Amino acid sequence: MRLEVGPFVERHGQFAAIDAAIENSRAREGQLLIFEGALGLGKTALLNEAKKRALTAGFTLLHARGSEFEAGFPYGVVRQLFEPWLATADEAERKAVLSGPAKLAAPLFEYGTGGVVTGAGPEQRQAVLHGLYWMCVHLARRAPLLLLLDDLHWADVSSLQFLTYMEGRLDGHAILMCAATESVDDGQRADINQALLSSASARLVAVGPLSEDGVRAFAAGALPGVRLDETLVRVCYAATGGNPFFLRELLAEVREEELGDPLSLARVGPRNIARVVLRRLQQLPQPLAEHTTRLARALAVLDAPGEPALGHAAHAAHAAHVAGLDAVEAAEAVSTLMDLGIVHPLPPLRFAQPVVRTAIYEHLPLPSRHRAHARAAKALHAAGATGAQVVPLLVPLPPSGDEWTATVLADAGREALEAGDPAAAARLLRRALDEPAPAALLPALLARLGAAELRLRDPEATARLGEALELTEDPLDRAAIVIDMSTALTAAARYEDALALLQQAHAAVRGRSREVELRLHSEIVKVAQLTPRTRPLAARELSRLDRTVVGEQGATAALVGAQQAFEALIGGERAPDVLRTAEAALLHGPLTAPPDGGAQASWLIALVLACCDRLPEADRLLDEALRDAEEQSMLLATADLRALHAWLRFQRGMLAEAETDGSLALGSTEEAGTPPTGMPFAAGALIDSLVAQGQIRTAARVVDRCGLDSDISRQPTFLPLVMARGRLRIAQGDAEAGVRDLLGSAEALTEWGTDCPALSPTATAAATLARMGRTREARPLAEETLATARRFGTPRTVAGALVATGLAEEGRARLRHLEEAVALLEDSPAALERCLALTEYGAALRRADRAEQARPLLRRAGEIADATGAAALAKRIRGELAAMGVRARVPARTGVSGLTPRERSVSALAAEGKRNQEIARMLFVTVKTVEWHLGQAYRKLGIASRGELRDALARV
Ligand SMILES: Nc1ncnc2c1ncn2[C@@H]1O[C@H](COP(=O)(O)OP(=O)(O)O)[C@@H](O)[C@H]1O
Ligand SMILES: [Mg+2]
Repeated sequence: MRLEVGPFVERHGQFAAIDAAIENSRAREGQLLIFEGALGLGKTALLNEAKKRALTAGFTLLHARGSEFEAGFPYGVVRQLFEPWLATADEAERKAVLSGPAKLAAPLFEYGTGGVVTGAGPEQRQAVLHGLYWMCVHLARRAPLLLLLDDLHWADVSSLQFLTYMEGRLDGHAILMCAATESVDDGQRADINQALLSSASARLVAVGPLSEDGVRAFAAGALPGVRLDETLVRVCYAATGGNPFFLRELLAEVREEELGDPLSLARVGPRNIARVVLRRLQQLPQPLAEHTTRLARALAVLDAPGEPALGHAAHAAHAAHVAGLDAVEAAEAVSTLMDLGIVHPLPPLRFAQPVVRTAIYEHLPLPSRHRAHARAAKALHAAGATGAQVVPLLVPLPPSGDEWTATVLADAGREALEAGDPAAAARLLRRALDEPAPAALLPALLARLGAAELRLRDPEATARLGEALELTEDPLDRAAIVIDMSTALTAAARYEDALALLQQAHAAVRGRSREVELRLHSEIVKVAQLTPRTRPLAARELSRLDRTVVGEQGATAALVGAQQAFEALIGGERAPDVLRTAEAALLHGPLTAPPDGGAQASWLIALVLACCDRLPEADRLLDEALRDAEEQSMLLATADLRALHAWLRFQRGMLAEAETDGSLALGSTEEAGTPPTGMPFAAGALIDSLVAQGQIRTAARVVDRCGLDSDISRQPTFLPLVMARGRLRIAQGDAEAGVRDLLGSAEALTEWGTDCPALSPTATAAATLARMGRTREARPLAEETLATARRFGTPRTVAGALVATGLAEEGRARLRHLEEAVALLEDSPAALERCLALTEYGAALRRADRAEQARPLLRRAGEIADATGAAALAKRIRGELAAMGVRARVPARTGVSGLTPRERSVSALAAEGKRNQEIARMLFVTVKTVEWHLGQAYRKLGIASRGELRDALARV
């Protein structure tokens, strides 16, 4: 499709020059006006404008245009100028114009008489030129004369001599010569061009590209009725450099394609641009035509955005190499391409307008494109480019069994995997496999592809890793594959298979690498801990390890230490003992997550610390681990850590933070395809925080999204989610079903072999049963829970059990239990539990007609509920207060409680040290929105900087 051309844009200076020249010529001060500029900048368009204005002013028009076909045909342009006039003029006019000295030019137009002056010597040529001059003078006597000469760079030499001859003799005549030329310097015409361009009566007018504003105006004219997107304007300007011809072609595509995203326009390369530019190159004399074409095509393949991979000089050398030119040929070609405005005048070597690159690239015939790709890749690689720099050239090639290609792709795949981009890794590795890869490469290739697929939750992973194992002999190589395989099997609940493989691999590496041995060992423990049947194995293995890793430094030793602490927790040890194990684990050195996304020491230790009432410490540890994992783009570790972070935030009563973290973690665990350690924690924290904030329906949707079925709901790893569903059901009013979930989970935990009260939901189950009036069931459950909690020995677990027991009791016994619970939680960072204990105690006191005592307790509970945003509890507290005739206080609008959920999410992430841009990306909002919310939060918190956020937010 062709666009109608909109109004002329940004050519006021050129128009003024045209008008001045017309005026002067009419006043017998003949002029030569030359528009100079590269292909497509609008020279012809300006000549047309000059013609229009001159005709209006009464000029006679003679018109000619240089073309590559006539460049070797003497006087070609001159004939084009005069012949149409001579053919249409009547006999008398012809005679008059060709009279006197003009006769000297007559032989030029008398074909029949053999008067063609081709082989003429210098004197005869001088005579013809003089004759032509007089023809013009005669014509100009009748009316002012306009000689219009387009594409002067193609004019034949003798016609150019005519121009030079005329140029010196214009004064005193009403003659305007108006020409257009590119500033290309290609040999014999250079001198004449030079003479013309530097003469006195000649005025040289440069025609440059449009500015960005010009591009906007052009686009507005070309796309009437389309609302102009600023991005579109920017992309068009960048792609075309403001060249109106390129712009016109690009915008024609917009109209044709109904482009959705303006940015995609940067990848459009209109066929017309390729055609016109390449034809322009073909018009050059040989061998320059051939060389420039080859160089332009090579450059189209090599010229990726940004700085070249290997420095400017190397880049130019590669272009020459890919084009198959020697250094001198390449240099000539480049300088011609620069003259033509196709190649940028400054290094690095690249196209002046990106759209030209795209157009030439897009319309390269496929075989040459592939040849160029392969040559370019090899040359770059030989010169030391990295895999990442070479690979984009290789991926589009059809497989050809090339060993080198397979190797480079496989290496790049490994790098992508290590950089935490399993999707890219899988793409590269599959492509390497398709090449096909040589046999020697196959085992490692399959292993990595399997690892990538595992991270993408591709069910192919197990089979792929199996193939890799079959081909791999070396025990250390096998160990790495087995660890991935074990993760895949575990995700499919094939625990026993995983353990068998791990134990085999473990036996095979003994004595070869302590680190790998420990790593496999920790993996055995991790898998064995997952099911009731195999848990004793985990305990056995750990106690065996206990003797060996003491005093050992290193990440894996720390991981084993963390597993020991976790085993102590779930194995029923008392909290102080558990804490001692956890502290011992920290002595093995820094806790770093293994790059393959296996079990993480910090994750386990943070969970253990939190269960032992060390909430702020656990939080700090997780913060640090999370930052490390994010910095190293370890997707799996990040997702798992953030999930636990969410859970921890909920424990601390930081509801908005828990909600933000929970939904971020849920999204990324789904995306990263983690085996289900993180997901249930993320979903559980999200559901719990929504329920506490009174957003029951949203919470229910999260449960639906997790697709919890009876199959998996008894697996230990899923229990955090099942318990959260139970609490949601209770909040929904279906206490029966809620208690079923909680007691089912409790049973599953027992079956698993743990009665750790910090993990168990029996206190909530007992309290709910008591509220339902089923005290006969509630009481023994509560008492048993209390006994276990006292043995474990943390204030939180004991207080939770005391609340349940209190609710299951009557009268003074109830008050006594609740009072103790409140006292135990006095300074606890577990804000919600403190609030609940206060509420229950206050409510019980009120029922015992001790309103005086109840009131301050309920007021404090109310403050905590408001501050944390626990809407459900806040409502209940207001009800209790109202029953005593206390009017509900309006919740504060400043301080943490005054923050909206959005403000809290944003400030929580900012307090973590995230930059606004990162926060915007994580929450799917704009940076402006983030700034706005942060500003609001600062104001409400009464702080002035990011540095103060952390403390301000912790003030609950
Ligand atoms: N200043 C301008 N404003 C709007 N359109 C322009 C302008 N200059 C050129 N064009 C359009 O751009 C296209 C290329 O111009 P053209 O005169 O053929 O370039 P050149 O002769 O320099 O190769 C034409 O469609 C022309 O109408
Ligand atoms: Mg033109």
